Order: sequence, then C-alpha cells, then structure tokens
Amino acid sequence: MDLYEYQARDIFEKHGVPVLRGLTAVTADEAAAAATELGSPVVVVKAQVKTGGRGKAGGVKIAKSAEEAKAKAGEILGLDIKGHVVEKVMITEGADIAEEYYFSLLLDRANRSYLAMCSREGGVEIEQLAVERPEALARVPVDPGVGIDQAKADEIVAEAGFEGADATEIARVLQLLGQVYEAEDATLVEVNPLVKTGDGRIIALDGKVSLDENAGFRQPDHEALADKSAEDPLEAAAKAKGLNYVKLDGSVGVIGNGAGLVMSTLDVVAYAGEEFAGSPRPANFLDIGGGASAEVMANGLEIIISDEQVKSVFVNVFGGITACDAVANGIVQAFELLGGRGEQQIDIPLVVRLDGNNADLARQILTEAGLPGLEQVDTMDGAARRAAELAAG
Ligand SMILES: Nc1ncnc2c1ncn2[C@@H]1O[C@H](COP(=O)(O)OP(=O)(O)OP(=O)(O)O)[C@@H](O)[C@H]1O
Ligand SMILES: [Mg+2]
Repeated sequence: MDLYEYQARDIFEKHGVPVLRGLTAVTADEAAAAATELGSPVVVVKAQVKTGGRGKAGGVKIAKSAEEAKAKAGEILGLDIKGHVVEKVMITEGADIAEEYYFSLLLDRANRSYLAMCSREGGVEIEQLAVERPEALARVPVDPGVGIDQAKADEIVAEAGFEGADATEIARVLQLLGQVYEAEDATLVEVNPLVKTGDGRIIALDGKVSLDENAGFRQPDHEALADKSAEDPLEAAAKAKGLNYVKLDGSVGVIGNGAGLVMSTLDVVAYAGEEFAGSPRPANFLDIGGGASAEVMANGLEIIISDEQVKSVFVNVFGGITACDAVANGIVQAFELLGGRGEQQIDIPLVVRLDGNNADLARQILTEAGLPGLEQVDTMDGAARRAAELAAG
C-alpha cells in the first residue's frame, strides 16, 4: 500500500524524523485557513497524489499569504497529474533550502536484502541521475537483521560523500528513517528531497512510503491509512468477506481452489476465449483456498455475479485434502443460500469442472441436484472453452 505524502509526513514525525509542519485541505478555503494556522510567512501548497513529479506538473506552489494559498490551492485542486485527479492538498511551511539530497531504503528481493540509496544530488529526477551518472548515487546493502545502525548510517553517508557536521546529522536522520522502515513494516521509505536549510538543519521535505500489507495483522493502525474511495467496490466487498479476489475486466467469472490453479485457469480461459466472438476473457481472480465451505462458495459466487460484466462462471476445483464431494455440496448449498438472500439468485450459466479426490461422487451430487444453468465438463480445457463460449453468447 502506497501512502500519500501527508501520511508519510505523519509517520516520519511519529518516529522523530525532522519534518516541516503540514496540514491538509480539500477546498481552497480550508487551504487558506491552514496557511493562517501555520502562521509561516511562506507556505507551500502541495498536491496529494500517489505519483511522482508533482512539482513539474504544477502541483507544488509557493504562497506568501493566506489569500495566495487559497488561490494556489484553487489551481491545484482538480488538476490531473498523470491520471491522478488532485482531491487534497497539503499546506506546509516554506523551507529555506540550501541543498537538496536524496535517500531511500527499499526491499531488494533479488538479493534477499534491503538496499539504501543516497545522493548529494537530490530533488531532481533520481532515475535520470542513476542512469547518467551512477557514481553520484551511493548504493549500500543493508542487512535486514541489523537495519541501519550507527555504523551502517556512517557508511551510507560516507559513500554518498558527506563530511563533517552534515555527515553526523544526516547519519542520525538515516537511522530514524531506518526505524520507520522497520517499525512500520515498510517496503519503501524514500525522501526526495532531504534538505539542508540555510541554518544547517536536515529536514525530510518530501516522503514516499509503501507499507507491506502482509504485515497488516500486526499493524492495526495501518488500515485507517487505506484509501477507501480509490478501492474497487467489489474488491472491498470481497476483502470484507475474507476472500482472495482481484477484479479483472473480462466476462468469464473464475473460481478455483489454490492460487496456482486459479492463475492457470485464467490463462486457459483467455486462450480458449480467442476462438469466440469478442474474445471473452477472465473477469476476476478468486481463490477460495482449501475447505470450500458452502458459505465461502456462496460468498464467492455472490461477488462474481454482482459484477455486471460477468456472462458466465467457471468453477475449477481440484480435490486434494478438500474432497470434491464437499465442494459439490458447497455449490448446491450456495445455490440455496443465494436463493434465500433474495436478489442474488444465480441467473448466469455456471460451468463446473471437478477432478481429484472423490470426483465421481461429486459429479453425481451435482447431476442429482439438477441446478438451473449448471453444466459439468470433465476437463479443464473443455470447461474453459464452454465457459468462454457461453460468455460470448
Ligand atoms: N516546504 C517547501 N519549502 C520550499 N520548497 C519546497 C517545499 N516543498 C517542496 N519544495 C520544492 O519543490 C520541489 C518539489 O517538491 P516535492 O519533492 O515535494 O514534490 P515532487 O516534485 O512531486 O517530487 P517527487 O517527484 O519526488 O514526488 C522540491 O525539490 C523543493 O525544491
Ligand atoms: Mg519529491
């Protein structure tokens, strides 16, 4: 989960990283009030969007009065920055910037390590710097078991070419940023620019933080940072039901057990779809995991059929520890459950392929149940082809 700059600022502040005061606003009037509250002779109005290069796109503007802050906020709110429409701005104190540096700490999956990057030349397009003059960007591996301790911070700072009092203070701030990374279960902490002010202070002026959602169970505060408005409503509903669901834009709903099987089902459906008019494609990823209870099956089907683009559903289950007959009973009960939930009747064709443990018994259960619109196909390829055909109409 990527955070907005103002959320990163708040987290930095919580861990003692030096930041500027900042207030958010969703209207120009609120921006004026925020500027007045900050009471700083110069404020900066900054677009809050989850993309870089805001400054260049006209999303970062200086204002010297509350009136001016109001006008600048009026220009920035509603601006489209690389497809992100600005709905919120942050008003911060203006800083007297002497120098701009760069720092980031990120997860280096390939090397099973963390990687710190630091440069005396920040504020600019760091990607460009990394390509054109790689020697100007220090890259220092960080042992995840140790993090950024004093020795590591000193090493990073020295590699980047800092000296004297700057080196000492920057090393202190890097350790705090390392603590942010560690304590918040982040996968990225980036500060661009990290600035030195005219009076020699080091401040994190712009922050980008990504949090590891897999650590959500031990980070109860993080849920509140999620951007509910930007979330797909079906994905949000699925999440609330504990389902592993990703919305795609095709018309064949897909349910399977096990992420690997579901992923290959998506491929097979996409391939089969090419034969038919409009090339139907998968409408979603949905892994119901082991133990496909009637409840889970009903919840999964309910989410899928409430997607208006879905024209057919392919249920692909390989019975292992969960026997196929349990899944078949789950499907039968899901039809009853959804029937009982009123509006959510299953009114689109369902193609079911069950194989593996107790498949014969399962097929018999479904045949005897005679569910409307349900067809059984014995092979995965055949079932995918039939589901695509039904979706094509
Ligand atoms: N509070 C401030 N006081 C003075 N100057 C500022 C302030 N905030 C930003 N700036 C100036 O505006 C530039 C761009 O700001 P910032 O890095 O926050 O946004 P950005 O352009 O979106 O960067 P990124 O691409 O990293 O997201 C900074 O490099 C700095 O020179
Ligand atoms: Mg920046």
